[in-house]
Amino acid sequence: MIVYKNHKEIELMRRSNQIVAQVLSELRERVKPGVRTIELDEYAEKRTKELGAKPAFKGYRGYPASLCTSINEEIVHGIPSSRALKKGDIISMDFGVVYEGLYGDAAVTVPVGEVPSEAQMLIETVKVSLSKGIEQVRVGNRISDISSAVQKYVESKGFSVIRSFVGHGIGFSLHEEPQVPNFGSPGHGPKIKPGMVLAIEPMISAGDWDVEILDDNWTAITRDRSLSAHYENTVAATENGPEILSVFDKERVSSQRESENAEEG
Ligand code: MF3
Ligand code: CO
Repeated sequence: MIVYKNHKEIELMRRSNQIVAQVLSELRERVKPGVRTIELDEYAEKRTKELGAKPAFKGYRGYPASLCTSINEEIVHGIPSSRALKKGDIISMDFGVVYEGLYGDAAVTVPVGEVPSEAQMLIETVKVSLSKGIEQVRVGNRISDISSAVQKYVESKGFSVIRSFVGHGIGFSLHEEPQVPNFGSPGHGPKIKPGMVLAIEPMISAGDWDVEILDDNWTAITRDRSLSAHYENTVAATENGPEILSVFDKERVSSQRESENAEEG
């Protein structure tokens, strides 16, 4: 069953997702060689509490941390540990919170110091593929229009889309219907309607899309050990098109300022 959200619920989801985006933006600044992933997890948990929300992942199906930290060939669900980041790594940080009963979920992949150009291209590609997917969140379109747009873009860059994990509806639970795959032909699946809220999360690799799960029963890696990157935003469908909820207000304000300055200049 797809649960549509009313204006008041979307307003609360703006807040929960802003908290997610703010914490991710602060985490991004903390990613440096030598930093241990457990320190990122502790920071995320502490900031979430200060901002009046609760981490959504901790305890979810037994997941042991607040943040997922997936390095290099790790695709998603990497568990924070004493592992230190090294220059040249790429790290996906996936984070969710619950605020007033409503969930927010987003992820970014960031380079640790200077990284090889293929790693940089992989990050850029997954980020743009997410925006191609978000563009399809229009009333009257169908879910697989999102899937198809993501896949087309990723494959045009010579990379692969991971098949075993999908995006999802989100709101009163972290995972709601519908599923949002990152591959498939357009024109299938549920119709997009106002009040639908989706966590769109492409995961891609520089090699094949086969997946393996490590002995911790969580960490998903590419079977061929090729590099993987992941981006995620929570997006509401409105009569006027997609509204990205997981945007940090300061980012919204600064991009407005930038465009104002550009007009003035
Ligand atoms: N953002 C991810 C998702 O939507 C991570 C949640 S899995 C968890 O699937 F177990 F870590 F919570
Ligand atoms: Co998600």
